[in-house]
Amino acid sequence: MPGMLAPEEVGPLMRGRFGRPYLYAAECDSTQRTLDDRLPEGALAVCEAQTAGRGRLGRSWSAPPGKAILCSLLLRPPSDRAVSELALVAGLATALTVEEALARATGIKWPNDVLVAGRKVAGILAETRGGAVVVGIGLNVNQDSLDLPAISQTGAASLYTVDGRRRERAPLLAALLLNLEEQYDRWRGAGLISLIEPIAARDVLRGRTISVSGTTGVAGGIAPDGRLVLLTSEGGKLVASGEATLAL
Ligand code: BTN
Repeated sequence: MPGMLAPEEVGPLMRGRFGRPYLYAAECDSTQRTLDDRLPEGALAVCEAQTAGRGRLGRSWSAPPGKAILCSLLLRPPSDRAVSELALVAGLATALTVEEALARATGIKWPNDVLVAGRKVAGILAETRGGAVVVGIGLNVNQDSLDLPAISQTGAASLYTVDGRRRERAPLLAALLLNLEEQYDRWRGAGLISLIEPIAARDVLRGRTISVSGTTGVAGGIAPDGRLVLLTSEGGKLVASGEATLAL
């Protein structure tokens, strides 16, 4: 059906190897749960609506049916790559997709949020599943501001609330898959160091006073291994995971 993310809409637009097989349902509990680790790399789960969408740190993720991109991609990274870096890899791919759609700059809020004009338009959730990794992406596309969840500090946005345009989601999902494949292949071959420049260029925390897991300091950028550099009164620290909040 036009306007949906059914395989007959998205399949003809797909150019790469990600999105095969394409597991689609009008409704599911969470696309993160649709994929099992017997599927090949590149398998994609897509739903119009999730009844139990999951965010990071035990939070929920909600979006009204048919307005967002809700998908999960199965990856099998080589054993010498750090899986924790995949949130940044997918974050960069999502940021590039949003930039192509909006022709505006985006920001990456370590470790997994994509922002436009300071508001969150997309979130990434990377979870290991047996020997594989499931990378879930929630991208707000056609939601009105009333449809968006209240998010502390940044607030949420959709592409629609940014530029007032309703969009077909199918070409956007096809573009996202291609960007994911390109950034993933680069990371797979040469590591996060090969992506650190475009990630750093979008780092919205750098130079800001933030708190992560009870430690306050100035964000000093993202290290080549994906950890956040936190400059505290006791010196520099490398933070592997957590939630960064802006100190007031
Ligand atoms: C976050 O910012 O907390 C991460 C949000 C990830 C949401 C996506 S929507 C598709 C996939 N399925 C889920 O249940 N969660 C991810």
